[in-house]
Parts: sequence; structure tokens; C-alpha cells
Amino acid sequence: MEERKGFGSNFGFLMAAVGSAVGLGNIWGFPNKMGANGGFTFLIIYLLLAACCGLIVMIGELALGRKTGKGAVGAYKILSKKFRWLGWLGILSAFLILFFYCALGGYCIKYVVLNVGNLFGAGFGSNGLNGAEVFGAFMGNQMEAVIYGLIFVLLTMLIVMGGVGGGIEKVCSVGMPALFIILLICIIRACTLPGAVDGLKYMFVPGWALEHGVIDKAPDLLTVLSTAGGQMFFSLSLGMGAMITYGSYLNKKENIEKNALLIVIMDTMVALMAGLCVIPGRFALDPTGKLGGPSLLFVTMQNVFDNMPLGSVFGILFYLLVVFAAISSSISLLEVIVAHFCDKAREKGKGDKRKAYSLIAAAAVGVGCILVCLDCLGGAGISPFNILGMNPENGLPMWSDCWLDFFDCISEGILMPLGALLMCLCIGWEIGPKVVDEEVTLEGQNFKLRGFFNICVKIITPLGMLLVLYGQIKDFFF
Ligand code: TRP
Repeated sequence: MEERKGFGSNFGFLMAAVGSAVGLGNIWGFPNKMGANGGFTFLIIYLLLAACCGLIVMIGELALGRKTGKGAVGAYKILSKKFRWLGWLGILSAFLILFFYCALGGYCIKYVVLNVGNLFGAGFGSNGLNGAEVFGAFMGNQMEAVIYGLIFVLLTMLIVMGGVGGGIEKVCSVGMPALFIILLICIIRACTLPGAVDGLKYMFVPGWALEHGVIDKAPDLLTVLSTAGGQMFFSLSLGMGAMITYGSYLNKKENIEKNALLIVIMDTMVALMAGLCVIPGRFALDPTGKLGGPSLLFVTMQNVFDNMPLGSVFGILFYLLVVFAAISSSISLLEVIVAHFCDKAREKGKGDKRKAYSLIAAAAVGVGCILVCLDCLGGAGISPFNILGMNPENGLPMWSDCWLDFFDCISEGILMPLGALLMCLCIGWEIGPKVVDEEVTLEGQNFKLRGFFNICVKIITPLGMLLVLYGQIKDFFF
């Protein structure tokens, strides 16, 4: 049987895992949710959840992956009787997330191009339009959205074709440090703008957003909890086998506990840093701009760059950063799918056929991505492609008004917390936390968090997950 090639170094693994975690969720989800849900209070709750649920699931996923040396589907098949099928849930989530993630990634590429146009005064720049007008024009142009979305899918595919050590590790080892440096430059620029301090207050001072009318009603505790929980899951790439897959390529002598801790810490740090870069700009230069959703990135931020000296240079840097962040995440999602099929082919002694499977998986992702692009993130109004939207006959909403929200609420809202909940039940109550323990301490490493892990995985994390699941379902569907 052909050898399964993994990461070349622990640094490479760490950068790939952090790359998976750091993505669009950090850049537009975290800062805005933190501001709107009580600032510092939200941060404390987020950190508690990250420690009691995120870290635990992270250690669990990495250990299951490395122990079995298989992707998500293979890992659960080997380990569990009751949850043999759980890996398939991961593959389904990976597809659904990729559908909209690639569409959004494509929009980010478009904005790099736009700012290059602005820098050189070229026709493909803003041509004097403001952020909302540029975005509006782009949203009205389905063909352009589809082309950029597919370019993003293509880039993702090419990297995954290169394999874990050759493609993913190489791109992330360069891309992640670069992202960090660009982020620092953007933070310095944003925080030295006059009026930036209001942005910091919005993010960090509890109750500031409410007092200053940025939000109109105080969030209740359950909303804060479930928002923080959902955000944490998505941001750490948990609950659908991405970390099982990366863990399966990790060398046996590396320390799982330490790596898990570092991934969680770095992801949270980048989320906070992204906030320091995005939010002060909004308060200083586009005080009426939207703080959340796609318009934060594509309207508000573009206005900020338009209003800033040398704005197009910073615009290029910023949107490049976002493209890096998005690609390093989308490759981890595609790898969940590809790794499984490669494992199967390898078992049958057919080599791993990575290139062929990457191509097929990417083609399937392309189809979903086209759907999201065709209704332009919901902005195309009622498009004929939008079968799950508002019913134009009687105006009654069907449960989602665009493909983006539809894929998002099924994957992020249900499948991921459910996947994590079931994984905890599987580790805690079926195969027993001992299995994780043995893997973590395989080469004599110390498992400092053993006691904490055992209690959490059996009781605290599943309860946390249930709460998140309940809150998400309530938010999305009612
Ligand atoms: N974590 C990424 C973000 O914050 C998104 C992501 C990448 C993801 N891989 C994942 C989410 C796997 C869930 C599962 O944007």
C-alpha cells in the first residue's frame, strides 16, 4: 500500500491548522458579534466556551485523527459502532460550507482587483462610485460573481491537489506569517485614525453599543451564549472532522495537547486583532456603515479605504489578507472530502488518486458555489435560482431568503454543533476518554489537562453543545 504522506514539520502542521481556523469567521464574525453582544462580557463568555468546549473538542478531534491515521469517515468507522456514520456528516457539512465560503472568497478576490484598479486609476476600479454602489453593481452582475467564485474554487483545488505536505503545508507556512504581518500594518493604520477610539469602546466596553444606539436592544444571556458558542465552533473549524483530518497527518511524536492549546489561542488572538483593524476604521471613516454580514467587508470597509489617504494601497493589503485567510480555510474543508476518497483508493491499492478526487470534489463544490453566486448573496432579489426564498406569489417567507443563508444555517447552525455533540458522546460514553488519553501521551508526553478533559468531554461539553444547538435553532428558524 502506498505511503500516506503527512506534514513535514510541526510548524507546518500548526500553520495549516491555524490557517483552517483563521478565516472569514474571524474577520467579520467575531468583532461585530463581540460589539453587539456586550463587548468584554462576550469575550469572557467566549473564552470560557473556548476552554470548556473548543479546546476539548480540538484535543478529541486531533487525537482521533492521529490514532486512526484516517480522514473523518474512516476514523469513526474504525473507532465506533454507534457513530460509524458520523464522518459522513462531516463531509456533508464540508460541502455546504464550501458552497458559500467559495462564493464569499471570490468576492474578496474581486475587491483586491478593484483596489488595484483604484490605485492605477484603471477602469476596473470604483470609477467614483461609493462602497454601496460598487457592491450593488457587483451584486447585479451574476456572471462576474460566478467567475470570481469559480476562480476561488480553482485556487483551492490546485493547493489541495499538491497534497498535505506539498500544497497545504507550503501555502500556509508562508501565508499565515504574511497574514499576521499585514494584519499588524492594518491595525496600526486603523487605530491611528481620528475617532478610532469609539471603535475600541464598541468592542470592549460592556453596554457601550446599546447606550450609543448602535444596537437597539440588549441581548439576553441565552443569545449571548449561543452566539458566542456558534462563533467559537465555526471559528475553530470544529465539529465536522476538519481537525480529525489534519490530525491524521500529524507525526506521532508531536504534542497534541500543546498544539490544540496553541491553535485555540492563536485563533482567538487573530479574531481580536481583526477587530482592532476593522471596527475602528468603521467608526472613524464610515460611522453609519453596517457592522455585520457581508456588507461590513464589502461596503463599509471599501468606504473606509475610499476615505483614507493611500486607501487603495491599504485596500489591496487588507483584501489580500482576507483572501489568504479564506483560502487557508477552504483548503481544509476540501481536504476533509478529498482525504476520505484518497484513503479509500489507497486501501484498494490504487495509489491515492489525489488529483482526480480533488478535481471531482472541486467540480461539485463549483456547482453549489454557482448557486450562491447566482443569487448574489441574496442581493439579486428573487432569482429563479432561489427556490428556497420568499414566495413571490403570496409574499410568505419560506425559511430562508437566499442560498447563502440556507447553506449557512444548515451547516453552521445544525450540523456542526450536532457533530461536536455526538463526538463528545462517542468519546465520553462509548469508546471512553482513555482512547484519547493514550494517544495524547503516546510518546510519554504529559497530559496536564487530563482531569479537566475527562469531566468536560463527558458532561460539560455536551451540555454546552446542547445549549448552543438550542440557541442556534431558535435564532435561525424562529
Ligand atoms: N474556521 C474558518 C473561519 O473562521 C471556517 C472553516 C474552515 C471551518 N474550516 C472549517 C468551519 C471547518 C467549520 C469547519 O472562517
